[in-house]
Amino acid sequence: MRVGVLTGGGDCPGLNAVIRAVVRRGVQDFGLEFVGFRDGWRGPLEADTAPLDVQAVRGILPRGGTILGSSRTNPFKENGPGPNGVERIKDNLAGLGVGALVAIGGEDTLGVAARLHAEGINVVGVPKTIDNDLGATDYTFGFDTAVNIAMEAIDRLHTTAESHHRALIVEVMGRHAGWIALHAGMAGGANVILVPERPFDMDKVCEYVQHRFQTRYAPIVVVAEGAHPKDEELAVSSGKMDAFGHAQLGGVGALLAAEIEKRTGKEARCTVLGHVQRGGTPTAFDRVLATRFGLHAVQAVRDGAFGQMVALHGTEIVRVPLAEATSAPKLVPTERYAEAEVFFG
Ligand code: F6P
Repeated sequence: MRVGVLTGGGDCPGLNAVIRAVVRRGVQDFGLEFVGFRDGWRGPLEADTAPLDVQAVRGILPRGGTILGSSRTNPFKENGPGPNGVERIKDNLAGLGVGALVAIGGEDTLGVAARLHAEGINVVGVPKTIDNDLGATDYTFGFDTAVNIAMEAIDRLHTTAESHHRALIVEVMGRHAGWIALHAGMAGGANVILVPERPFDMDKVCEYVQHRFQTRYAPIVVVAEGAHPKDEELAVSSGKMDAFGHAQLGGVGALLAAEIEKRTGKEARCTVLGHVQRGGTPTAFDRVLATRFGLHAVQAVRDGAFGQMVALHGTEIVRVPLAEATSAPKLVPTERYAEAEVFFG
């Protein structure tokens, strides 16, 4: 059988490790043939392919990004003129002799995979995202690398914050989930962690920051890009949307720095880590998880287990229905705040 592989959505470290594992096991153990689709769902939509054999995946395990490219193309937004997105994908797969797809992505890419499966396309999903917000899996690969990058940044910010007696605000990614902020904040010993799941009280945050200064500590505030103040009038928004209807986030760190300066009279600076969190080489944890996901995904293709996503449950890799995995995002539960021993605003 000929199998197509694609990577969609925001890239993350570990994508190449999945591609490598899928292709190596598929070719060497199952005698499968592969074709890469470029830039997520744009590839099958436009029949844009890349050669994908054992030679093509040599040496890519430690490389960040994705050799196949990525995009946020949504085939369900392609409504003509002419055949719609689903019809074009079906025609192109048939034309290329591709009988199954391995789709590596987050909520959006796998949401499309679930809908295409319902339309009769053979798809197996692999969960990726630095945000760790996919339901039905304990962890996605990419998250551990992002957390380690953010933790290292926080470690470094502590020393300069202390030297200058400043409040330092670190804005991290994560979209509408606070996983990166929570884990990086805890690991880096932040004083305040602000997550999207819990709107924060600007007055209380500023009071707490003031209190930290009184005890002669320069406070570190980690804020998730999706976090927002209870007071709607203070909320920030770029107004820009992607093809899946997600608002472009960012700016809450700068808002906090400005408010802290205004209300405490102390200096505050904001560091936005941005795409640095998604770049570069994956951690060992992410390489292992991504490789295991890849091996199990191609096994699922071999077993004809379509419409399924591979997932981590505890230490085991299992299969869960794609539709279930993409039905609701996994958010930080309230009990995690009490465990963190940090001020949550
Ligand atoms: O989903 C991953 C992610 O990095 C989010 O944390 C962030 O909000 C978004 O992607 C950024 O997207 P873009 O790369 O399109 O700026």
